[in-house]
Amino acid sequence: MLTKEDKAKYGKELNILKLNMEKEIDNIRVELKKKRINQKLKAEKIDISLPERPYLNGKIHPISRALDEIISILGQLSFEVCKGPHIENDYNNFTALNISENHPARQDHDTFYFNNSKTLLRTHTSPVQIRVMKSIKPPIRIIAPGATYRCDDDATHSPMFHQVEGLVVDENINMGHLKHLIKEILTQFFSVKDLPMRFRPSYFPFTEPSAEVDIGCLIKENFLKIGEGSEWLEVLGCGMVNPIVLENCGLDSKRYSGFAFGLGIERFAMLKYQIADLRMFYDNDIKWLDHNSFFPKGFPSTIRGF
Ligand code: DAH
Repeated sequence: MLTKEDKAKYGKELNILKLNMEKEIDNIRVELKKKRINQKLKAEKIDISLPERPYLNGKIHPISRALDEIISILGQLSFEVCKGPHIENDYNNFTALNISENHPARQDHDTFYFNNSKTLLRTHTSPVQIRVMKSIKPPIRIIAPGATYRCDDDATHSPMFHQVEGLVVDENINMGHLKHLIKEILTQFFSVKDLPMRFRPSYFPFTEPSAEVDIGCLIKENFLKIGEGSEWLEVLGCGMVNPIVLENCGLDSKRYSGFAFGLGIERFAMLKYQIADLRMFYDNDIKWLDHNSFFPKGFPSTIRGF
């Protein structure tokens, strides 16, 4: 048995011993932790000298590419690019373009109407002509590229497709100006010198006279060569702006005349890039897209870091 004095003495010493031991254990714990982290760092070391995996860039969709090409051809010919809304009113899409309520052309358009039937998804880019002529005075020299919509779906039609509208209005504009411009667009786009081209009389309510343009080509089973052969392929519609349309937009048809054209980008892209089925453009098949899309001009196919 310890005496009361000894108890106090040993108790104090034991307490000091206990505190020292706890301190020592803490030190060892910190040391062990450090050791474990160092071992882990050593084992999981990243070799930063390895080159990174090649990074695949996105590509340009053939429709975007064809659109860009047409815009660039016309841009160099000093055309201004104009945009109109995809949701249009019935007046701009039809009535102002001389397509009255009972006109058979309305049935041809397979229109997507909204509930009130006065609003619709534009069936062509021609309503942009109306918006432009109502807003700016001649001289007018514009193109209107963009999406258009019709209730149609097969190998050569898609419910959403793209058109480029062209419009020139000034004093003394004649059909010769139109022919010259169309020839320039087609030869540049299809990169064929002396491309055979013919203007076939046609009918559009908003142009008078109207024409459809065909280009000469060779068609053999799965093969198409533009600029050769004896067949004709229709590529666009055009004509002199109907004086009724000019007057509908508040322009004096005695003073001004104009021409207009409308072309389908899907058709242009199919012909130039030899794509047989229009639906492929919108199926989002990644392999098809990779094969048929374009790198931005001058871009390498991949970028690798070292
Ligand atoms: N808007 C017509 C269509 O979608 C195409 C067209 C034809 C536009 C003749 C024009 C034109 O500007 O003059 O079928």
